[in-house]
Amino acid sequence: MDNSFRDDLPGRKRDLLHDQAALVTGASSGIGEAIAKALAGAGARVVVNFSSNEEAANGVVQDIRNGGGEAIALRANVSKEDQVLAMFEAMFKEYGTIDILVNNAGVQKDAKFTDMTLTQWQLVLDINLTGQFLCAREAAKEFIRRGLVPERSLAAGKIICISSVHETIPWAGHINYAASKGGIMMMMKTMAQELAPYKIRVNSIAPGAIKTRINRGAWETPEAEAKLLELIPYKRVGETRDIGAVAVWLASDESDYVNGTTIFVDGGMLLYPAFARGG
Ligand code: BGC
Repeated sequence: MDNSFRDDLPGRKRDLLHDQAALVTGASSGIGEAIAKALAGAGARVVVNFSSNEEAANGVVQDIRNGGGEAIALRANVSKEDQVLAMFEAMFKEYGTIDILVNNAGVQKDAKFTDMTLTQWQLVLDINLTGQFLCAREAAKEFIRRGLVPERSLAAGKIICISSVHETIPWAGHINYAASKGGIMMMMKTMAQELAPYKIRVNSIAPGAIKTRINRGAWETPEAEAKLLELIPYKRVGETRDIGAVAVWLASDESDYVNGTTIFVDGGMLLYPAFARGG
């Protein structure tokens, strides 16, 4: 039984998201799992979306329930419109509405630029960018339809896009991924501009190197980790709970005046660390 997520929150603010319905895409592992648990720990009812690993998603739901939280698992490949629509319908049936969307699902399919196939390019753009578009569109429609519910939140809805330091830092060998994250940046800002009059807040979290499966090769041996730490002024590789804590804050009324911005959670990766000894 894993109750540790209950202690993740600074000041153990368990009622920050009381009674709000949240959807976290790609929540069966990694950063999505940590966000789902952190939101549940703050009182939200959480949909744990997964695309293929049902067992892992059920495990996340069980952990949340064991900790006294509420969650269900729903399958959908976020790049498929019909599956996204079905997922939102199932969520509305179960929880009535949506208050918080965390657009987290994402993949890497790395290749040298000249070797990259159209399939690799398309897959990453489809999941990382189009998937966020489809889910955000459905969430925004429901926020606008339902409007503000003052007992629950000062905003009529919150969308959090999980981006990356690579919305800013170019990344050789990962052009599809970097392009998808750059796209998320402008999509997030455009949504924020367009949806603000409806009292909908849209922001991004841009993680740096966080220990998950996606970048295992970059931290699993001491040599790899030492090399990675050269890129991180704060000299530790991030943990998924670092992102969970920021997601709770961004979803809550504590950040009510934060709109259309990216919060980098990267130990300073964006500070051009090589310039600490050069230039
Ligand atoms: C990537 C990781 C990488 C990190 C820092 C993330 O967005 O998914 O693989 O370690 O950026 O480069």
